[in-house]
Parts: sequence; C-alpha cells; structure tokens
Amino acid sequence: MFAARQAFSAAQRRAFSSTARQASKVTVLGAAGGIGQPLSLLLKLNPRVSQLALYDIRGGPGVAADVGHINTKSEVKGYDPTPSGLKECLEGSDVVLIPAGVPRKPGMTRDDLFNTNASIVRDLAKASAESAPEANICIISNPVNSTVPITAEVFKAAGVYNPKRIFGVTTLDVVRASRFISQIKGTDPASEIVTVVGGHSGATIVPLLSQSGFELKGEQLDEYVRRVQFGGDEVVQAKGGAGSATLSMAMAGARFAESLLKAAQGQKGVVEPCFVESPLYKDKGCDWFASNVELGPNGVEKIHPVGKITEYEQKLLDVCLGDLAKNIKKGVDFVKANP
Ligand code: NAI
Repeated sequence: MFAARQAFSAAQRRAFSSTARQASKVTVLGAAGGIGQPLSLLLKLNPRVSQLALYDIRGGPGVAADVGHINTKSEVKGYDPTPSGLKECLEGSDVVLIPAGVPRKPGMTRDDLFNTNASIVRDLAKASAESAPEANICIISNPVNSTVPITAEVFKAAGVYNPKRIFGVTTLDVVRASRFISQIKGTDPASEIVTVVGGHSGATIVPLLSQSGFELKGEQLDEYVRRVQFGGDEVVQAKGGAGSATLSMAMAGARFAESLLKAAQGQKGVVEPCFVESPLYKDKGCDWFASNVELGPNGVEKIHPVGKITEYEQKLLDVCLGDLAKNIKKGVDFVKANP
C-alpha cells in the first residue's frame, strides 16, 4: 500500500516536472488596454506561461516593463507597432489572445462596434496567419459573433485555416452565469457550472440552467436569463462611458488561456464552452456556435452537443440562431468586400 502510494506520487512528480518543462509562448495583441493590462498580469502569474509577448499600438513595452518585474519565471517582452514588432511578437506563439479594439459606451450594442473593430481584427488576423499560423487564436474583441468568422476568413485566404485553432472567447458568459445563480441560491459560485451556448451578444447568449441542477421559474427565470444575456450592459452603464467589462473579462480570458495550455500540456477532460466552427447548427446558417468544447493538444478535441434542454430554452435557442446567422454572415461578407 505504502509502496503503491510512493510510486503514484513519484509518477505525479514526474508528470508535474515534464509539464513545468514545456515552454509556452502566450501573446496578447491589445495588451495596453482595459482588458489587456490585467490579462497580461494574470498571465504573468501563470506558471504554465514561459514567454509573454505584449503588443499594442501604444504602450506595449511599458506594460511589459511593469509586469516583467513580477517575480515569476516567465520572460516578458513588449513590442511597438512596427511590422517587424508585430511579426516578432507573434512568431512561435502557442496562444494568441486578441482584445484589441474599441469597447462599448452606454447605449451601444456589440454590433455597433463592428465598423471599427472588424478592420482591426482583420489586420491582426492577417499578421497572425503569416507569423503564427499554428497558434490557438482567441478572439476577445467584439462583436465576437462576427470577428471570429472574420479571423477564419483571413486564415482561409492565407491558406492556413485550421478550424480546431480559432476560438471566440465566451468564458465571461459562463463566469457570469455561475456567479448570478449562486447569488440567487446562496451557493459557492466557484463550484457552479452553468453551460452557456450560442454566441456572445444579447439574445445569442443562451444559458442552459436546466442542465446545472437548478430550477428557477417564471419571472425569476426570465430575470436570470436577462441578466446573463445583458450582464455586460450592467458594467457598461456603471462605468458611465469609461468602457466595458475589463477586470472580469481579464479573469475569463486568463482562464481560457489556462485551459488551452493545460490541454496542450496533456491534461485530459479540459472542457470550456467557446465559440468555434461547429457542425451543430450549420443547417440553420450558423457555421459558428458556442457549446461545451473539449480541448486537447490540437486545439478543439470534441464539440459536445447541446444536449437535453427545456421548451423554454429551445425558444431562446431559436431566437439565438436567427441573430447569430446574421452576425456570422456580416463577418464573412466584410472580408469578401474588404480583403
Ligand atoms: P480598450 O480601449 O481599453 O483597449 C483596447 C486596446 O486595443 C487599446 O490599448 C488600443 O490601443 C489597442 N488597439 C487598438 N487597435 C489596435 C491594433 N490595431 N493593434 C493592437 N492594439 C490595438 O478596450 P477594452 O476594454 O480592453 O476592450 C477591448 C475589446 O474587448 C472590445 O472590443 C470589447 O468590446 C471587447 N470585450 C469582449 C468581451 C468578451 O466577453 N469577449 C468582454 C468585454 C469586452
């Protein structure tokens, strides 16, 4: 018994040290922004990250110098907005997180950001396709429902598209869904898992509370769903024009990056809901859809189906699919018209 326990812990130790040895370069494009800075901080605290590359159109090296003094092992480097700076920043990246672009102001929908952010994401996607074609590309910039298809179209045009490696980060919706149910039920939010499917804006965000083991009814359920769908607006309004969710988004982005790194470093059963090219609702015009996704060393390992849902949730899903198909098409059409 004792010997078996010793052998197990030796195996664990070996597994741990081989994990720790694996080098992982994580890159943030838009690193000096409201999300970029705390995201860079959280990544600096992650022992799975060995190199942290920070790029922004202004202020990347400053953030890097600051974060770089934190006494964890990873090397941090900041890059200026020159073509060679962006190239060098991206080369060799395992994970690229993109929170570059403008955030919402009160009264704006995520789609209102399209005109500005579509071209920012397109250009950063072009640079990524050229310098980091095999990295996991994680899009945070809104509207995610359109900026992710934009990224994919750019990768396709460059001949390096791999559907297993392009992700829209919807983790914040999942984080909010578990936090908000725990506030109602008085439980520990860290142990609540509420699956959220669909997309990442308003009615396209569909929390599947029935699968979490909780039940809400009537107005309380309506209010819960509304809060998950429009939780971002709470923050935009409370900040009164100074931006949207940055700190909670940084936490969500860091969690998603951590999940990708865990899976890349061999951990099994890592499941994160995220927005990926998905077979689930292609027949409804939605080539992209967020559901639970098992991650692996090659990116997307397995896309879980939505599973059993209530009639109420089916109605939410029907509305979601209509909006989502339009958002996706808008992104694809943008790249066709503005290659
Ligand atoms: P921010 O304005 O504070 O920061 C954006 C940063 O991007 C700035 O530092 C800016 O200099 C930089 N930037 C702009 N163009 C760039 C380019 N071409 N290359 C590199 N960097 C560039 O905005 P914040 O609050 O950080 O939000 C960023 C984006 O994230 C917004 O589009 C926002 O809507 C989105 N967001 C997404 C969420 C999600 O759940 N996926 C949640 C919250 C925000």
